[in-house]
Amino acid sequence: MQSRIKPSKALCGSVRIPGDKSISHRYAMLAALANGTSVLKNFSAGADPHSTLGCVASLGIAVEKDGGEIKVHGKGVRGLSAPTGDLDAGNSGSTIRMLSGILAAQPFSTTIFGDPSLSRRPMKRIMTPLQQMGARIDAVDGTYPPITIHGTRELKPIHYELPVASAQVKSCVLFAGISIDGETAVTEPMKTRDHSEIALREFGADISSEGRTAKIRGGRDLEPRELYVPGDLSGAAFFLVATLMARDANVVLYDVGVNPSRTALIDFLVGGGGRIKVLDVRSSGGELVGDLQVNSSQFKGGVIEGALTAALIDEIPVLAVLGAASENGLTVKDAGELRVKETDRIATVAENMRRMGVEVQTDADGFHVPGKQTFRAAEVDSFGDHRIGMAFAVAGLAAEGGETVVNEAEAASVSFPEFFATLEAIRA
Ligand code: S3P
Repeated sequence: MQSRIKPSKALCGSVRIPGDKSISHRYAMLAALANGTSVLKNFSAGADPHSTLGCVASLGIAVEKDGGEIKVHGKGVRGLSAPTGDLDAGNSGSTIRMLSGILAAQPFSTTIFGDPSLSRRPMKRIMTPLQQMGARIDAVDGTYPPITIHGTRELKPIHYELPVASAQVKSCVLFAGISIDGETAVTEPMKTRDHSEIALREFGADISSEGRTAKIRGGRDLEPRELYVPGDLSGAAFFLVATLMARDANVVLYDVGVNPSRTALIDFLVGGGGRIKVLDVRSSGGELVGDLQVNSSQFKGGVIEGALTAALIDEIPVLAVLGAASENGLTVKDAGELRVKETDRIATVAENMRRMGVEVQTDADGFHVPGKQTFRAAEVDSFGDHRIGMAFAVAGLAAEGGETVVNEAEAASVSFPEFFATLEAIRA
């Protein structure tokens, strides 16, 4: 599907962002292991969290869907049953990596596969700790999906030092620890999003965090919960950037998750001159939620490196777009992880930038976009990657010279099915 984006200098209105993708995955998996029925409200409409629900259903857990409200009839920590077929994770790295931790502790074997993009993404990072715990795992060339997890009830607790900053790998190990007697611990090189720790606590697990180490003492039952999923800040990022870039814009984003392990985005934008206010912060299921009021701004640009790169990893494609329009440009360093996302995001960002007449220099683990550049309307591609499609729709909104065409625009539905309609709705 192609989406056509007409430029717009003015944006206004209010936007509701779909439920957070990261939190939806975690609630679906933990609800499946709880003793009874959990109700998950504002569950992400994205295809990825629905891949998780599909996998959970294949493991013998009844799932009822009523719009954004999902009921998961959990059967307890030992209640999953061997699937009759292979599990389909679709495009979702979170599904395959986090669910693998749970499957490693089951007394049966499960094969998980995904789409062509997922089939190119490395799984060794989760295989290593799970193998140390005692699971046997097969993968194509030792790392690529499909992977087959030969689980066991005899997993051993470990203290794992993560070599790469990855919330998915951290969560995988903690989820494996849910049913292991003793303490499973993960130390990360830098803090990543802590939704798993918060959700585990919410469902009643014995979990603690100190500095960069999270510990779970397994063997405890999980309790079902009624939970509300906050709006996805990484989805909000496209609207924040679109609004900052427009000449005359004033947009409010309601009910967005503002967990401090995700808000480096807001700090970075505000630090560079972005006019964003976080209003009415409240707590829901241990997560913080707020409304974001944003106005057109001249963004200064900046450097993203080290821990900041890890904290902004999902937002870098759209920040690159903002960087081109900024005063001083944007430099991104230490971002080798971008090369193993849904696409090689350094390559796909650079390709679309060039098609839109914007200069960018890339290297092995980063890129530099000079500032004060103007996007020219062009035909760009999502390359099947939701965040690339949405980032360049935002570029199209700010472009000169007519309509920008985004090819394979349907990729947005992985996290944000209503993205293009929502973008149209705030055109003033
Ligand atoms: C996620 C963690 C990040 C992020 C992904 C979602 C999560 O991946 O890019 O979109 O929900 O834990 P990594 O763990 O690979 O950094």
